[in-house]
Amino acid sequence: MRDVLEPEASRWRHLIDTFAAVVARAGYGQIMLPVLEDLGVFTRIGDATDVVTKEMYDFTDKGGRHIALRPEFTAGVCRAYVQHRPTTPWKVWYAGPNFRYERPQRGRYRQFEQVGVEVLDVDDPMVDVEVIALGWEFFSRLGLRRVELHLNSLGEPADRLAYTEALRTHFESRLDQLSEAARETLARNPLRVLDSKRPDDAAAIASAPSITEFWSESAAEHYGAVRDGLRALEIPFIENTALVRGLDYYRRTTFEYVGGTLDSAQNALGGGGRYDGLVADLGGPQTSGIGFALGVERTLLACDDEGVFPAGDSAVEVYVVDTTGGAEASLVAARLRAAGFSCEQAFGQRSLKSQMKSADRSGAQVAVLIGPDEHQAGTLTVRSLRGQSGQTTIDAGDLVEHLRRVIAVTCE
Ligand code: HAM
Repeated sequence: MRDVLEPEASRWRHLIDTFAAVVARAGYGQIMLPVLEDLGVFTRIGDATDVVTKEMYDFTDKGGRHIALRPEFTAGVCRAYVQHRPTTPWKVWYAGPNFRYERPQRGRYRQFEQVGVEVLDVDDPMVDVEVIALGWEFFSRLGLRRVELHLNSLGEPADRLAYTEALRTHFESRLDQLSEAARETLARNPLRVLDSKRPDDAAAIASAPSITEFWSESAAEHYGAVRDGLRALEIPFIENTALVRGLDYYRRTTFEYVGGTLDSAQNALGGGGRYDGLVADLGGPQTSGIGFALGVERTLLACDDEGVFPAGDSAVEVYVVDTTGGAEASLVAARLRAAGFSCEQAFGQRSLKSQMKSADRSGAQVAVLIGPDEHQAGTLTVRSLRGQSGQTTIDAGDLVEHLRRVIAVTCE
């Protein structure tokens, strides 16, 4: 778990604002969910997944309830849907922290931030296209160019089941070609063996059957419509039949945005897919659902690697220095903030030199100086801190007007 300090914190907020702007324009409304849910909400993600079996932060609370810190948002969104029964289609977006007890490394943390969207109760493949396109639009808005979209379909539940069994048979007859880790995965979830990046497993994976042979007509048709829709929007994608995703609730469309600059163990900037059975699993009516979540930390790492979406300038515009005791500085600062300037002041009745040092460090464009002379004459001295140095003394009443001329006002 990490602390996020400035200027990274501002960049982080700007990223979430950018995401919110992209999805709000498509009619998605924000949902804010509790960080804790009943454990049962998350066990629906699938008992064959590491997220549920190994990585959950779960505990018993003082009331004896078995609860967990959320490892993702989708199950919570479906729980909220069952509870509130909103009018549909229900299109929501979210941002916030999730918790998984994973082995930390670059791009993989135990507390990590996601932004994402979910759409409930629309079966139309065009909603798959809209959802996938929103993620794509977001990455391009950040300036990322080396993102690949990987696309697959896991078929209808019966197709997925038949495929899982075919994989089990295939891999069980080739146990000698599998690593110890892959054999363990096989016992829990044959689909996930396809995720192995170990060279030892490559041959057995290469000869494995493909999901395409198991698609029912309706699954193939849905997938075809999604592909056509993406092509119509000129969104490039790579068909990846080994893309099975780490959570059990997926059926039909699955996709991942893969960062071209990141290590293969954590190069998924985000991913998602359809989970048409999850609402029913949580006690609601049969409802289709689709969405994605993107990892904020990984996305920012990709931005660093590509040299895009830099941290902005979070410095204030004005720094008020007061050697007369400090009360005056508070009044000037309040006046400037009310007029729309960003403004800091020095505290602690320090010397002029020490206060000016703080002013320089703050990154402000100008310092407003209040000394005994100014105090007496009802004036203020405005000193430039960037670019050309220089200072002017003005009537205190003219300050706002004067600063409007010398500072490019950025506040609304
Ligand atoms: P996920 O693939 O588990 O999917 O996570 C989505 C993204 O969250 C990943 O691609 C990655 O960028 C980020 N992420 C996951 N775990 C970590 C971690 N330990 N550290 C840093 N980043 C991480 C889901 O969570 C699904 N709920 C997505 C979804 C929404 N499917 C349908 N709707």
